[in-house]
Parts: sequence; structure tokens; C-alpha cells
Amino acid sequence: MELTIFILRLAVYILAFPMYLLNFLGLWSWICKKWFPYFLVRFSVMYNEQMASKKRELFSNLQEFAGPSGKLSLLEVGCGTGTNFKFYPPGCRVTCIDPNPNFEKFLIKSIAENRHLQFERFVVAAGENMHQVADGSVDVVVCTLVLCSVENQEQILREVCRVLRPVSERVRNLSYMQKLVHTQEYLLSSVCNSTNWK
Ligand SMILES: C[S@@+](CC[C@H](N)C(=O)[O-])C[C@H]1O[C@@H](n2cnc3c(N)ncnc32)[C@H](O)[C@@H]1O
Repeated sequence: MELTIFILRLAVYILAFPMYLLNFLGLWSWICKKWFPYFLVRFSVMYNEQMASKKRELFSNLQEFAGPSGKLSLLEVGCGTGTNFKFYPPGCRVTCIDPNPNFEKFLIKSIAENRHLQFERFVVAAGENMHQVADGSVDVVVCTLVLCSVENQEQILREVCRVLRPVSERVRNLSYMQKLVHTQEYLLSSVCNSTNWK
């Protein structure tokens, strides 16, 4: 038994060695950032098929949060390839934030496929520091499959509150909680539950 465990451990060490080496050389993070978008674009197709009805329901009332102009200003934090775009209402003004610049070319493709949206800009930044987005400048913040893997969830949520358009505190909390509960319930589920990863 001990010999089996030893051999299994050795196999794991050998398999993981290239990753440790690349990490030691400072290349692992670069490789992940480069290739993750290619993985995500494929994964998103399958995921969207499975979650289409839930996403439609989750995003169905977005237009209700539009400001006095009637135009909905939406910020997507950790936008990835723009997989949520097709669920946003027509005319919606979309700003995207993601710390991985390699998503840009995938975003451009998603924008071309979703002509019903008005794309504003892609900001390369982490959600913990979105200083490029002005205080109270967006009606809605969308964040799916992101919070489970970030460094500082509280800081991101503080930033989310900062950039959201100030309406009455009651409405702000309501809309925020509604989105959070829906997101947790429908999208994060157990796959993306931070407690499962620790
Ligand atoms: C699993 S993908 C989800 C992408 C997209 N939201 C979706 O639902 O398909 C996680 C995304 O979060 C981004 N991300 C990672 N850390 C982040 C952070 N600190 N702030 C904002 N986005 C982050 C990643 O670059 C990646 O695009």
C-alpha cells in the first residue's frame, strides 16, 4: 500500500513538474492568460446552451434599471469572451472590464455578433480597482463566474457599489442583492462556489 502511494505521489510530482518549472521561470501565468480565452470560448458555448433559460430569466429585467435617459448603461466585470452579450437588451451601452488583455479579440467577435448592443469600451483592469470607471456612472453591473476566483471579493463589491448610479439606497441594495442572489443561485452554483475550492 505504501509503495502504491509513493508511486502515485511520484507520478503527480512528475506530471506537475513542468508547471512548477514554468511558474518558477515566471512563464506559467503568461501561458494561462494566453490560452485561457481559447478554452473559455469553447466552454462558453456549452455553458450558454445549458444555462440559456436561466440567463434569459436573470437578465430579463435589466431594462428596468435604466436611468432617466432610458438608455441602460451596463458594466460587465470579468467579461471574458462576452458570452453574456446576447442576453442584454437592445440599445444597452456596454463597458467591459477584464484583467486579461487577451480577451480583446474574442470580445471584438462577440460585439460583431451582437449588433443590438452599443459597445462603449474594453478596460483592462481587475475588478478590485476600476478607477477608469467613474463613480455612479453605470446602471447595472454584471459579474458571472468571476467572484469565486478573485483575490479580494469585498474590494470588488465595494468598487461595484461605487460605480453604480446612486438611486435611493433601498433600490440600490435591492437591485444589488437581487443580482447577487440570482447570480449565486443560477450561475455560480456549486461549480463556482469559493468554499469548494478552499
Ligand atoms: C470563468 S471566466 C468568466 C467569464 C464570463 N464572465 C462568463 O461568464 O463567461 C472568469 C473571468 O474573470 C476574469 N477575472 C479574473 N480575475 C479577475 C478580477 N480580479 N477582476 C475582474 N475579472 C477577473 C478572468 O480574466 C476571466 O475573464
